[in-house]
Amino acid sequence: MSKLHADYYADSMHQISASLERNDQIGEGTYLIRVAAEPLAKALVPGQFVMVRLAGTNAPLIGRALAVYDVVSDASGNPVWIDLVYLKKGSFTTALAESPLGTQITLWGPLGNGFANRPCDRLIMVSGGIGQTPMLLLGKEATGLQDFGDETRKNGWAPAVEFIYGARRSSLLAGVSDFEKAGFRVTLCTDDGSQGQQKLVPDVLRARLAELAGSGETIRVATCGPEIMMEKVAEACLAVDVDCQVSMETPMACGIGICFSCVAQVRQDGPEEWDYKRTCVEGPIFDADQICW
Ligand SMILES: Cc1cc2nc3c(=O)[nH]c(=O)nc-3n(C[C@H](O)[C@H](O)[C@H](O)COP(=O)(O)OP(=O)(O)OC[C@H]3O[C@@H](n4cnc5c(N)ncnc54)[C@H](O)[C@@H]3O)c2cc1C
Ligand code: FES
Repeated sequence: MSKLHADYYADSMHQISASLERNDQIGEGTYLIRVAAEPLAKALVPGQFVMVRLAGTNAPLIGRALAVYDVVSDASGNPVWIDLVYLKKGSFTTALAESPLGTQITLWGPLGNGFANRPCDRLIMVSGGIGQTPMLLLGKEATGLQDFGDETRKNGWAPAVEFIYGARRSSLLAGVSDFEKAGFRVTLCTDDGSQGQQKLVPDVLRARLAELAGSGETIRVATCGPEIMMEKVAEACLAVDVDCQVSMETPMACGIGICFSCVAQVRQDGPEEWDYKRTCVEGPIFDADQICW
């Protein structure tokens, strides 16, 4: 059954009701929730997402897509919990931020394609705003800290992993210590200079790629954040022929390929040939040079 058809997800995804075991503020307007979701925790790969809604309410009725931030195992190493990180923004995330521990939520997934695990010498993960959320798992898989999905998906495919992360101000940088604990080289930047370099994320990446030029290393970039930032990151990579994947965050309604609310313009065979692709099933991860920005 094709992964591009809704019946694949309808038949293979897990739908889980779980209660909030954590809902902690980890940055300005930014929260981390933890739920027990063992079948999801066992099946997912980095870059995939889940659809989430608050059970028993119709405000909002439609679920929201959230990238899986972390997978947490029990004492015997069995993956049991998933962590999701969200920025309080509109109707769903405001209601979620106000939900006490024990609140029931409904999740379905894992959805989407996930990042490719193409071997390289160095993976540079580049995030802006709330775009750090799919990167922790990707970095853990790349360095071999954690396995995901089935045994056909190998970990340890990039010995060096870096994380370039920017936000408007220091208080919006959330989860930095998780990336530091995982052993990644972390470079921070803020628009107002309140933490790290006072530069925009694509400029920090451009400078790092220039530093690494001539090292002989094969470098890959993975990026997530505001679309204009990803476009500039993609340009910086294209200019020096570095492979780049982007995680698109177009608004989604069904998450499984039915409604076409999530489409993005994606190149087909040549630079002038493009078609609308559903980012929920054909993405959310795309090679950056495929996207018509
Ligand atoms: C694959 C994928 C992964 C994602 N991962 C994450 C993640 O890990 N963390 C995360 O925080 N988000 C993530 N998102 C975004 C997430 O799905 C939601 O879109 C986001 O959380 C906002 O949902 P909301 O209900 O709070 O806001 P909504 O109510 O849907 O509002 C969204 C925006 O529209 C504005 N808005 C709402 N109503 C109106 C109106 N009537 N008129 C004008 N403006 C309006 C709001 O102010 C807000 O800026 C992801 C999206 C995708 C597609
Ligand atoms: S969200 Fe419905 S088709 Fe993608």
